[in-house]
Amino acid sequence: MKTQVAIIGAGPSGLLLGALLAKAGIDAVILEAKSPDYVLGRIRAGVLEQVCVDLLDSVGVGARMHREGLVHGGFELAFGGARHRIDMKGLTGGKQVMVYGQTEVTRDLMDDRAAKGLATIYEAANVSLHDFDGTKPRVRYQKDGATHEIECDFIAGCDGYHGVSRASVPPSAIQTFERVYPFGWLGVLSDTPPVSHELIYSNHERGFALCSMRSPTRSRHYVQCSLDDKVEQWSDDAFWDELRRRLDPEAAESLVTGPSIEKSIAPLRSFVAEPMRFGRLFLAGDAAHIVPPTGAKGLNLAATDVGYLGAALAEYYNVRSSAGIDSYSQRCLRRIWRAERFSWWFTSLMHKFPDTGAFGQKMQAAELDYLVNSVAASTTMAENYVGLPL
Ligand code: APR
Ligand code: PHB
Repeated sequence: MKTQVAIIGAGPSGLLLGALLAKAGIDAVILEAKSPDYVLGRIRAGVLEQVCVDLLDSVGVGARMHREGLVHGGFELAFGGARHRIDMKGLTGGKQVMVYGQTEVTRDLMDDRAAKGLATIYEAANVSLHDFDGTKPRVRYQKDGATHEIECDFIAGCDGYHGVSRASVPPSAIQTFERVYPFGWLGVLSDTPPVSHELIYSNHERGFALCSMRSPTRSRHYVQCSLDDKVEQWSDDAFWDELRRRLDPEAAESLVTGPSIEKSIAPLRSFVAEPMRFGRLFLAGDAAHIVPPTGAKGLNLAATDVGYLGAALAEYYNVRSSAGIDSYSQRCLRRIWRAERFSWWFTSLMHKFPDTGAFGQKMQAAELDYLVNSVAASTTMAENYVGLPL
């Protein structure tokens, strides 16, 4: 089989890149290791920056998001028994975010791809990347017991943190930067009304908590947990009790509980791989970088990576210029490092760290006090949360 761009991975990065390339008239095939149901079963964050909303609109998949998504102009920080609102909209000259689950974004992109008859090969086993340092890259995979090969001009590695793309690059050609945090997030999805109409990020002496949502009737909540914890050890009741303890009295009072639909533990990590281009292989999304979920930057970074990559490839094919391809890595990494900084900072501010003790807690309390009482500090936080300009 021949195509112009072989995309590895049908997560949000691969699917959005596929849509951007289709719109530019570029032929692409997506190879995905798992089934569509498996991909849709993964629950991730759900806060979209305007640039991400714009990209989804630009490929014509934004209709359901605008119908069902919730536009938020602020969020709340809870600490010391009270809540303080960060007025994102007021502080940034009108910018807001869209609360719409990553699963729904993925579903919309998948449905659009299927409706247009664009090629996606699910359950592709043993995907391997070849000759991307030359002019004729190839991708091999197995499906239903047979081996197949795709000849292409470029490979887009959109296969997440554990994918084959980054692992195919010689270690001497890549530099990685990493911080692993000493705790995880236990997340619960439930058909219960959200605690408040906006998100609540809580710093509490027992640990961090987050009240988020997917719709007016579906909530997504998290509590900081130990990395040794197992999901099975957390009954629904234990989760709700712990969440309630970490909220201010008013939020605790209004918390509506119910059975969990999904419950999972995720570790927290900051990670960046540099560069993001190796000859005719490009890395995008989680294949190149991970942020801790505090601030929900993961999906937004994935979207802007493939926004840059889609534009660079369109420039290559349509106006015969390599300028976009040549600057891809540098453009992405500038934006990525700024989001890494924000996510690391917000994580450091809100969680209980085992090793910083009482002094660390006092520093957090002083910073939170400053943050909510200084227009300068609140503005800094708001402009990062809504997303820095491209
Ligand atoms: N071959 C083919 N597909 C693969 C392989 C492989 N060897 N390895 C992984 N994949 C697939 C995974 O099954 C997954 O569907 O690549 C896809 C990668 O998707 P994601 O992990 O969702 O990564 P990405 O599309 O970059 O999306 C980033 O996801 O983790 C969140 O916070 C993150 O919101 C961000 C978003
Ligand atoms: C979520 O809704 O899952 C979510 C929201 C905001 C975050 C992280 C996760 O910062």
